[in-house]
Amino acid sequence: MDFNRLSMVYLNGNFIEKNKASISVMDRGFLFGDGVYEVIPVYQGKLFRLTAHLKRLQNSLDAIKIPNPYSNSEWLNILNQLLGHSQSPNQSLYLQITRGSDTQRRHNFQALTPTVYIESSPLTQKTKQVLEKGFSAIIQPDIRWSRCDIKATSLLANVLYSQNAKENQVEEIILHRNDIITEGATSNVFMIKNGSLFTHPTGTHILSGITRDLALESALACKLPVNESAFSIDGLLGADEVWISSSTREIMPITQIDNQTINHAKVGTYWECVYNHYQQLKND
Ligand code: PDD
Repeated sequence: MDFNRLSMVYLNGNFIEKNKASISVMDRGFLFGDGVYEVIPVYQGKLFRLTAHLKRLQNSLDAIKIPNPYSNSEWLNILNQLLGHSQSPNQSLYLQITRGSDTQRRHNFQALTPTVYIESSPLTQKTKQVLEKGFSAIIQPDIRWSRCDIKATSLLANVLYSQNAKENQVEEIILHRNDIITEGATSNVFMIKNGSLFTHPTGTHILSGITRDLALESALACKLPVNESAFSIDGLLGADEVWISSSTREIMPITQIDNQTINHAKVGTYWECVYNHYQQLKND
Protein backbone atom coordinates (compact mmCIF):
# COMPACT_ATOMS: atom_id res chain seq x y z
CA MET A 1 0.00 0.00 0.00
CA ASP A 2 1.30 3.48 -0.83
CA PHE A 3 1.12 5.18 2.59
CA ASN A 4 2.62 8.38 1.23
CA ARG A 5 -0.26 8.76 -1.19
CA LEU A 6 -2.80 8.12 1.52
CA SER A 7 -1.27 10.34 4.17
CA MET A 8 -3.29 13.46 4.85
CA VAL A 9 -1.75 16.83 5.51
CA TYR A 10 -3.12 20.24 6.41
CA LEU A 11 -2.41 23.12 4.05
CA ASN A 12 -3.99 26.57 4.41
CA GLY A 13 -7.38 25.48 5.70
CA ASN A 14 -7.67 22.16 3.83
CA PHE A 15 -6.99 18.54 4.70
CA ILE A 16 -5.60 16.99 1.54
CA GLU A 17 -3.49 14.06 0.40
CA LYS A 18 0.19 14.82 0.79
CA ASN A 19 1.01 14.21 -2.87
CA LYS A 20 -1.61 16.82 -3.85
CA ALA A 21 -0.25 19.52 -1.52
CA SER A 22 1.69 22.30 -3.22
CA ILE A 23 2.67 25.91 -2.57
CA SER A 24 3.67 28.83 -4.76
CA VAL A 25 7.30 29.27 -5.87
CA MET A 26 6.88 32.83 -4.55
CA ASP A 27 6.36 31.53 -1.01
CA ARG A 28 8.93 33.19 1.20
CA GLY A 29 9.45 29.90 3.02
CA PHE A 30 10.73 28.47 -0.28
CA LEU A 31 12.69 31.58 -1.32
CA PHE A 32 14.22 32.62 2.01
CA GLY A 33 13.43 30.00 4.64
CA ASP A 34 11.29 32.83 6.04
CA GLY A 35 9.20 30.88 8.52
CA VAL A 36 9.03 29.06 11.83
CA TYR A 37 8.03 25.57 12.90
CA GLU A 38 7.21 23.25 15.78
CA VAL A 39 7.53 19.50 16.28
CA ILE A 40 4.93 18.17 18.72
CA PRO A 41 4.89 14.57 19.96
CA VAL A 42 1.61 12.70 20.30
CA TYR A 43 1.33 9.75 22.69
CA GLN A 44 -1.69 7.45 22.62
CA GLY A 45 -3.45 9.99 20.43
CA LYS A 46 -2.89 12.84 22.92
CA LEU A 47 -0.88 15.95 22.09
CA PHE A 48 2.01 16.14 24.55
CA ARG A 49 2.70 19.57 26.12
CA LEU A 50 0.69 21.38 23.46
CA THR A 51 0.41 24.60 25.51
CA ALA A 52 4.20 24.87 25.83
CA HIS A 53 4.67 24.22 22.10
CA LEU A 54 2.05 26.83 21.17
CA LYS A 55 3.69 29.35 23.51
CA ARG A 56 7.08 28.79 21.87
CA LEU A 57 5.43 29.02 18.44
CA GLN A 58 3.99 32.41 19.45
CA ASN A 59 7.44 33.57 20.61
CA SER A 60 9.01 32.48 17.31
CA LEU A 61 6.26 34.22 15.29
CA ASP A 62 6.57 37.41 17.35
CA ALA A 63 10.35 37.43 16.91
CA ILE A 64 10.05 37.50 13.12
CA LYS A 65 6.81 39.54 12.95
CA ILE A 66 4.47 36.97 11.45
CA PRO A 67 0.91 37.23 12.81
CA ASN A 68 -0.35 34.02 14.39
CA PRO A 69 -3.07 32.82 11.99
CA TYR A 70 -4.99 30.89 14.66
CA SER A 71 -6.02 31.04 18.31
CA ASN A 72 -4.92 28.22 20.61
CA SER A 73 -8.34 26.58 20.43
CA GLU A 74 -8.27 26.74 16.63
CA TRP A 75 -4.82 25.10 16.62
CA LEU A 76 -6.09 22.37 18.93
CA ASN A 77 -9.03 21.73 16.67
CA ILE A 78 -6.92 21.57 13.48
CA LEU A 79 -4.27 19.32 15.05
CA ASN A 80 -6.86 16.92 16.44
CA GLN A 81 -8.63 16.77 13.09
CA LEU A 82 -5.34 15.91 11.38
CA LEU A 83 -4.62 13.25 14.01
CA GLY A 84 -8.01 11.74 13.20
CA HIS A 85 -6.52 10.78 9.82
CA SER A 86 -3.50 8.98 11.26
CA GLN A 87 -3.31 5.28 12.07
CA SER A 88 -0.71 4.85 14.79
CA PRO A 89 -1.32 6.27 18.30
CA ASN A 90 2.17 7.79 18.64
CA GLN A 91 2.82 10.55 16.17
CA SER A 92 5.20 13.39 15.50
CA LEU A 93 3.39 16.50 14.27
CA TYR A 94 5.36 18.91 12.13
CA LEU A 95 3.79 22.35 11.90
CA GLN A 96 5.23 25.12 9.75
CA ILE A 97 4.18 28.71 9.19
CA THR A 98 5.87 30.82 6.54
CA ARG A 99 5.37 34.53 5.96
CA GLY A 100 3.43 33.67 2.80
CA SER A 101 3.64 34.34 -0.92
CA ASP A 102 4.70 37.68 -2.39
CA THR A 103 4.45 38.94 -5.99
CA GLN A 104 8.21 39.29 -6.39
CA ARG A 105 11.37 38.13 -4.64
CA ARG A 106 12.57 40.83 -2.28
CA HIS A 107 14.29 40.49 1.08
CA ASN A 108 12.06 42.96 2.93
CA PHE A 109 8.43 42.11 3.46
CA GLN A 110 4.92 43.47 3.58
CA ALA A 111 1.79 42.07 5.20
CA LEU A 112 1.05 38.71 3.56
CA THR A 113 -1.22 35.76 4.30
CA PRO A 114 0.92 33.22 6.16
CA THR A 115 1.21 29.72 4.70
CA VAL A 116 0.34 27.00 7.21
CA TYR A 117 1.46 23.42 6.61
CA ILE A 118 1.08 20.51 9.05
CA GLU A 119 1.96 16.86 8.61
CA SER A 120 1.94 13.95 10.99
CA SER A 121 4.16 10.90 10.87
CA PRO A 122 4.41 7.82 13.08
CA LEU A 123 6.74 8.34 16.03
CA THR A 124 8.89 5.31 16.65
CA GLN A 125 10.56 5.28 20.03
CA LYS A 126 13.66 3.41 21.00
CA THR A 127 13.14 0.83 23.71
CA LYS A 128 14.84 1.22 27.08
CA GLN A 129 16.99 -1.78 26.19
CA VAL A 130 18.29 -0.02 23.09
CA LEU A 131 18.79 3.30 24.92
CA GLU A 132 20.77 1.56 27.67
CA LYS A 133 23.49 0.78 25.14
CA GLY A 134 24.35 4.50 24.98
CA PHE A 135 25.03 6.71 21.96
CA SER A 136 27.94 8.61 20.52
CA ALA A 137 28.42 12.25 19.54
CA ILE A 138 31.10 14.53 18.20
CA ILE A 139 31.84 18.14 19.11
CA GLN A 140 31.98 20.88 16.47
CA PRO A 141 32.04 24.70 16.49
CA ASP A 142 28.59 26.33 16.57
CA ILE A 143 28.44 28.17 13.23
CA ARG A 144 24.75 29.15 13.56
CA TRP A 145 23.41 32.69 13.87
CA SER A 146 22.74 34.37 17.22
CA ARG A 147 18.97 33.87 17.38
CA CYS A 148 18.87 30.14 18.00
CA ASP A 149 15.92 30.75 20.35
CA ILE A 150 13.71 31.23 17.27
CA LYS A 151 12.57 27.89 15.87
CA ALA A 152 13.20 29.04 12.31
CA THR A 153 12.84 26.88 9.20
CA SER A 154 16.12 28.30 7.85
CA LEU A 155 18.21 25.37 9.11
CA LEU A 156 21.17 25.21 6.76
CA ALA A 157 23.78 24.82 9.52
CA ASN A 158 21.67 22.14 11.24
CA VAL A 159 21.23 20.32 7.92
CA LEU A 160 25.02 20.22 7.44
CA TYR A 161 25.53 19.01 11.02
CA SER A 162 22.95 16.25 10.60
CA GLN A 163 24.58 15.08 7.39
CA ASN A 164 27.91 15.11 9.20
CA ALA A 165 26.43 13.03 12.02
CA LYS A 166 25.16 10.54 9.46
CA GLU A 167 28.52 10.34 7.68
CA ASN A 168 30.35 9.89 11.00
CA GLN A 169 27.74 7.40 12.24
CA VAL A 170 27.10 9.32 15.45
CA GLU A 171 23.76 10.19 17.05
CA GLU A 172 24.37 13.92 17.43
CA ILE A 173 26.76 16.81 16.83
CA ILE A 174 27.33 18.71 20.08
CA LEU A 175 28.05 22.39 19.46
CA HIS A 176 30.37 24.84 21.21
CA ARG A 177 30.77 28.59 20.97
CA ASN A 178 34.27 29.65 22.08
CA ASP A 179 34.69 26.45 24.10
CA ILE A 180 31.26 26.75 25.77
CA ILE A 181 28.83 23.90 24.99
CA THR A 182 25.58 25.40 23.69
CA GLU A 183 23.34 22.52 22.52
CA GLY A 184 23.12 19.76 19.95
CA ALA A 185 22.38 20.27 16.25
CA THR A 186 18.81 19.07 16.92
CA SER A 187 18.69 18.71 20.71
CA ASN A 188 19.61 20.24 24.07
CA VAL A 189 22.65 18.96 25.96
CA PHE A 190 23.06 18.13 29.67
CA MET A 191 25.91 16.87 31.79
CA ILE A 192 26.18 15.59 35.34
CA LYS A 193 29.20 16.22 37.50
CA ASN A 194 29.50 15.29 41.17
CA GLY A 195 25.77 14.78 41.61
CA SER A 196 24.59 18.01 39.91
CA LEU A 197 23.02 18.54 36.51
CA PHE A 198 24.27 21.31 34.19
CA THR A 199 22.77 22.67 30.99
CA HIS A 200 23.29 25.87 29.01
CA PRO A 201 20.92 28.63 30.21
CA THR A 202 18.09 29.70 27.90
CA GLY A 203 18.75 32.83 25.84
CA THR A 204 19.55 33.54 22.22
CA HIS A 205 22.25 30.85 21.81
CA ILE A 206 20.01 27.81 22.28
CA LEU A 207 16.50 26.69 21.46
CA SER A 208 14.55 26.49 24.68
CA GLY A 209 13.50 22.86 24.32
CA ILE A 210 10.16 21.69 25.67
CA THR A 211 11.87 18.37 26.48
CA ARG A 212 14.68 20.34 28.17
CA ASP A 213 12.12 21.69 30.65
CA LEU A 214 10.77 18.19 31.21
CA ALA A 215 14.28 16.79 31.66
CA LEU A 216 14.93 19.43 34.35
CA GLU A 217 11.61 18.58 36.00
CA SER A 218 12.51 14.88 35.90
CA ALA A 219 15.99 15.59 37.29
CA LEU A 220 14.49 17.38 40.30
CA ALA A 221 12.11 14.46 40.81
CA CYS A 222 15.23 12.24 40.88
CA LYS A 223 16.76 14.48 43.58
CA LEU A 224 19.35 15.74 41.12
CA PRO A 225 20.08 19.46 41.67
CA VAL A 226 19.76 21.52 38.48
CA ASN A 227 22.18 24.26 37.37
CA GLU A 228 21.24 26.22 34.29
CA SER A 229 24.80 27.33 33.78
CA ALA A 230 27.22 26.86 30.91
CA PHE A 231 30.12 24.40 30.87
CA SER A 232 33.19 23.94 28.69
CA ILE A 233 34.28 21.18 26.32
CA ASP A 234 36.62 19.83 29.01
CA GLY A 235 33.73 19.90 31.48
CA LEU A 236 31.63 17.85 29.06
CA LEU A 237 34.38 15.32 28.40
CA GLY A 238 35.00 14.90 32.12
CA ALA A 239 31.32 14.48 32.96
CA ASP A 240 29.85 11.56 34.89
CA GLU A 241 26.83 11.44 32.56
CA VAL A 242 25.83 13.23 29.34
CA TRP A 243 22.30 13.37 27.90
CA ILE A 244 20.62 14.99 24.93
CA SER A 245 16.92 15.78 24.71
CA SER A 246 14.32 16.53 22.06
CA SER A 247 10.63 15.96 21.43
CA THR A 248 11.26 13.04 19.09
CA ARG A 249 14.20 11.46 20.96
CA GLU A 250 13.06 12.21 24.54
CA ILE A 251 16.12 11.95 26.86
CA MET A 252 19.02 9.96 25.41
CA PRO A 253 22.26 8.96 27.13
CA ILE A 254 25.53 9.81 25.36
CA THR A 255 28.40 7.54 26.37
CA GLN A 256 31.03 8.39 23.80
CA ILE A 257 32.16 11.84 22.59
CA ASP A 258 34.98 12.35 20.08
CA ASN A 259 36.39 8.87 20.76
CA GLN A 260 36.41 9.45 24.53
CA THR A 261 34.09 7.46 26.73
CA ILE A 262 31.81 8.97 29.37
CA ASN A 263 31.42 6.96 32.58
CA HIS A 264 33.43 4.10 31.01
CA ALA A 265 30.80 3.92 28.24
CA LYS A 266 28.10 2.94 30.78
CA VAL A 267 24.72 4.62 30.95
CA GLY A 268 24.39 6.36 34.34
CA THR A 269 21.92 5.75 37.14
CA TYR A 270 20.49 9.29 36.98
CA TRP A 271 19.62 8.74 33.34
CA GLU A 272 17.67 5.64 34.29
CA CYS A 273 15.73 7.61 36.90
CA VAL A 274 14.87 10.51 34.55
CA TYR A 275 13.95 8.03 31.83
CA ASN A 276 11.42 6.37 34.15
CA HIS A 277 10.05 9.72 35.31
CA TYR A 278 9.69 10.95 31.73
CA GLN A 279 7.71 7.85 30.78
CA GLN A 280 5.33 8.66 33.65
CA LEU A 281 4.91 12.25 32.44
CA LYS A 282 3.89 10.91 29.03
CA ASN A 283 1.10 8.89 30.64
CA ASP A 284 -0.26 11.72 32.83
N1 PDD B 1 14.45 19.79 17.17
N2 PDD B 1 17.72 22.45 20.04
C1 PDD B 1 17.60 22.34 18.70
C2 PDD B 1 18.59 23.03 17.84
C3 PDD B 1 16.56 21.58 18.14
O1 PDD B 1 16.43 21.47 16.82
C4 PDD B 1 15.64 20.90 19.01
C5 PDD B 1 14.50 20.07 18.51
C6 PDD B 1 15.82 21.05 20.40
C7 PDD B 1 14.90 20.38 21.39
O2 PDD B 1 13.64 21.01 21.44
P1 PDD B 1 12.34 20.20 21.89
O3 PDD B 1 12.67 19.51 23.14
O4 PDD B 1 11.31 21.25 22.07
O5 PDD B 1 12.02 19.24 20.77
C8 PDD B 1 16.85 21.84 20.87
C9 PDD B 1 13.28 19.23 16.56
C10 PDD B 1 12.82 17.96 17.14
C11 PDD B 1 13.46 19.22 15.07
O6 PDD B 1 14.08 20.15 14.56
O7 PDD B 1 12.96 18.33 14.40
